[in-house]
Amino acid sequence: MASIIDGKAFAATLRTHLARRIAALRHDENITPALAVVLVGEDPASQVYVRNKAAQTVEVGMRSIEHKLPASTTQEALLELVAALNADAEVDGILVQLPLPDHIDADRVLEAIDPAKDVDGFHPLNAGRLATGGTGLVPCTPLGALMLLKDRLGSLSGLHAVVVGRSNIVGKPMAQLLLREDCTVTIVHSRSRDAAALCRQADILVAAVGRPRMIGADWIKPGATVIDVGINRIALDAGRTKLVGDVDFDVVAPLAAHITPVPGGVGPMTIACLLHNTLTAACRRRG
Ligand code: GUN
Repeated sequence: MASIIDGKAFAATLRTHLARRIAALRHDENITPALAVVLVGEDPASQVYVRNKAAQTVEVGMRSIEHKLPASTTQEALLELVAALNADAEVDGILVQLPLPDHIDADRVLEAIDPAKDVDGFHPLNAGRLATGGTGLVPCTPLGALMLLKDRLGSLSGLHAVVVGRSNIVGKPMAQLLLREDCTVTIVHSRSRDAAALCRQADILVAAVGRPRMIGADWIKPGATVIDVGINRIALDAGRTKLVGDVDFDVVAPLAAHITPVPGGVGPMTIACLLHNTLTAACRRRG
């Protein structure tokens, strides 16, 4: 039976370390890092994320600046706000919550964010730096997944990592991070032939597709380390719902050596890494 990778506990420890460094920064240099979060519209899931981000930002001792705009906000107005946040010397990190309403071109907005304040790591310059070995800001969810892997396995050098999913937010940056750790990296996606056979080669399997319990027992090499990035809400009976990952935990856990649960695995690492990126951006900008 696999040992559980407790992302909730790891994230709490990471926040404690960050809080200590932030307190020292305030004491030694009178600097309080600030994170600006922009939410457009009323998407309920986004509202919950933004609330959690703000609460945890304040909890570790940073300043949280929230901009809540109506769904009718024009692209021009949003770009003006981003420009103002770029120009504000007190703002260290800028996060524009996705998804944006359909009438707004998300790529244009993300590209307008100062790469030095791009704590999501979504700006093409930061994506390019990740691919070319530079020191940019790295997307939070894959960064969190990598921290859990290195904590559990130590060196990842030479291991075969298979990433299922090729999104710009998780799959692609995850593959780049694993390559940087000297893994042999395979990306499996919806057009891959015999995805299960490719996944059975994995020493490290990272699932980031958004399809509930897609990864079954026949996708797993015994002894593999399994990182489940999926967060899917499925319907139970009587109107009840439940969160499940992309991995069918009950059948995969007996085969794997290490596995992240859902919830309580990669999920809590995302905001912790956002706080980590905000502190990194503050130190680089003001250092
Ligand atoms: N929406 C869902 N996840 C994310 C994220 O990591 N960053 C942003 N900006 N929006 C999101």
